[in-house]
Amino acid sequence: MSTATWATADPYTTALRAGRGPLFLRRADGWLLPLEVERWCARADGVDLDVLERCEGAVLDVGCGPGRLVAELAARGRPVLGIDVSETAVDRTVRLGGQALRRSVFDPLPGEGRWGTVLLMDGNVGIGGDPRALLDRAAGLLSPGGLLIAETLPVDVDERVEVQVVDLTLTAGGAFPWARLGTPALLRHASRAGWSAVDQWTAGGRRFVALRSRTASSSAETPKSTAVISSQRPRKPSGESPVAER
Ligand SMILES: C[S@@+](CC[C@H](N)C(=O)[O-])C[C@H]1O[C@@H](n2cnc3c(N)ncnc32)[C@H](O)[C@@H]1O
Repeated sequence: MSTATWATADPYTTALRAGRGPLFLRRADGWLLPLEVERWCARADGVDLDVLERCEGAVLDVGCGPGRLVAELAARGRPVLGIDVSETAVDRTVRLGGQALRRSVFDPLPGEGRWGTVLLMDGNVGIGGDPRALLDRAAGLLSPGGLLIAETLPVDVDERVEVQVVDLTLTAGGAFPWARLGTPALLRHASRAGWSAVDQWTAGGRRFVALRSRTASSSAETPKSTAVISSQRPRKPSGESPVAER
């Protein structure tokens, strides 16, 4: 799993501390995939805010990085938890006023089976390099019929790769598996895993997919209790918030 690698990738730590790159994922063939450290370290932008408006109930931001989304939701009084394997990312998220835990998404997590929304932003569908495993894990984290919002690549790819985080000096962390998925590929994986696609959109050159997990009774049915968009629901979901439970 990628835990030890992002977490101990010195170039990533250095870039988060500085608030800027350049930083890349380097594929085994030498190809450099730029990472948008400056955007991740900035405040949530309009495209992010549109995503946050779509969130339902308590939100789990998987691979929260330096925490712009967690901080924004927390500032709005929404129940939200970020998780990340990078200590620097978690520290920064907490400094911004969000709650965050240093955990892999594949570790035991608070509120399993009760989250209203899981976020996989900024390419985080790539975590672990196995989209099916990540989708299955997200389904286990969500309440039945819960919402997964994932950012995909603006190109039609479905790729499993070995990568390292590198900076311009080519100082590199360890290699780890990663996946690169466009929207068609994510929809294919999700459909096989029993998810329903509820929306897809493009904004500011970024692409997103919203998926709903199986309900207890059906894989395609929209749950009556959770199909309320965020602007229509009370700020806190009824019942206990998984965020309070840590
Ligand atoms: C592409 S960056 C995304 C940045 C982030 N979404 C943001 O808002 O700044 C991937 C993030 O996922 C984290 N990560 C990698 N593997 C993880 C795992 N197994 N569980 C949780 N987080 C992970 C990395 O430490 C990194 O912060």
